[in-house]
Amino acid sequence: MPESRVPRRRRFLVCEPRHFAVQYAINPWMSSGRPVDVIRALDQWQALVDAYRAHGHTVDTVGAVPGLPDMVFAANCAVVVEGRVFGSHFHAPERRPESVPYEAWFKTEGFEVQHSEAVCEGEGDLVPAGRWILAGTGFRTTREAHREVQEFFGLPVISLTLVDPYFYHLDTALFVLDDGSDGAAGNVAYYPGAFSPGSREVLERLYPDAVIATREDAMAFGLNSVSDGRHVFISPGARGLSDQLAGLGYVPVPVDLSEFHKAGGGIKCCTQEIREIHS
Ligand code: ARG
Repeated sequence: MPESRVPRRRRFLVCEPRHFAVQYAINPWMSSGRPVDVIRALDQWQALVDAYRAHGHTVDTVGAVPGLPDMVFAANCAVVVEGRVFGSHFHAPERRPESVPYEAWFKTEGFEVQHSEAVCEGEGDLVPAGRWILAGTGFRTTREAHREVQEFFGLPVISLTLVDPYFYHLDTALFVLDDGSDGAAGNVAYYPGAFSPGSREVLERLYPDAVIATREDAMAFGLNSVSDGRHVFISPGARGLSDQLAGLGYVPVPVDLSEFHKAGGGIKCCTQEIREIHS
C-alpha cells in the first residue's frame, strides 16, 4: 500500500438540479413513486460541488433547461478524453434533447463535438481508465457505439456486458480508483454480479487487485463514486466499501445524494469529467 496516494486535479462539468424530477421511468429506481424534494436535492448537489472545490477541483456549470428533469446527470452527455468530445445519443426519447444544451456548452468552451450515431450515454457507460476505455452495454449504450468510440479516440475499448437492470449504466457498477496516469494499469472498484460471466473474467484479468464491492454497497450507489486518485467522493450508505477503501490508503469523502437515487443516479452521474490534453 502506498504511504500516501496522490490526488490529480480534475475539471468537472455539472448541472444544477433546478428542474430535477422523476416524471417518467426508464430504470427500476424511477418506479418507486417517491416524489423528489427539489430543495433537498439542490442542497445535496451544492454539497457535492462544495466538496469538489474544497479538494482543489475545478467545477463548471451548464445551465439547467426546464422540461429536462434528468439533465442534472451530466455524466451522460458526453465522454471527453484529451480534449476530444464524443457527444451522446440518448436511449430514451425523453432525454435526447439534453444533447443540445450540453453540446452548445462544449462548443462555447472551444471544444469540437462529434455526435454519436449509435445510442451512447457518455460517461454513464464509457469509463476512461488511462490506457483504455471500459465500456458498458446491455441496457443503454450499444456495441456499435463502442466501435465508434474506439475509432474516435484511438483507444482500445473494452466492452463489458451489464446484466442487472438496477445497474443499467456501467458507472453504477464500477468506478476508476486510479487511472494509472503513471503508465501502470491503475485500479477499479466494482460489483461482479452486475456483469455477465465473460465480462467478469475480463475484469479479473485486467484488474487482479480490484476492490470488490457487495451488492448492498452497490445498491447504496457506492460504485457511482468519483476518485481523484486519493479522495473518493462516495455515498455514505456504502459503509463496507468506504472502510475497504480507507484500508487501502484512499480517503473517503462522504456526500449524500439520496434525492438523486430516486432517479437512479448518484455522485458520478452528476459529474462529467473534462479531460484536457495535458491533464
Ligand atoms: N434517470 C436517469 C436515466 O435513467 C439517471 C441517469 C444516471 N446517470 C448515470 N450516469 N448513471 O437515464
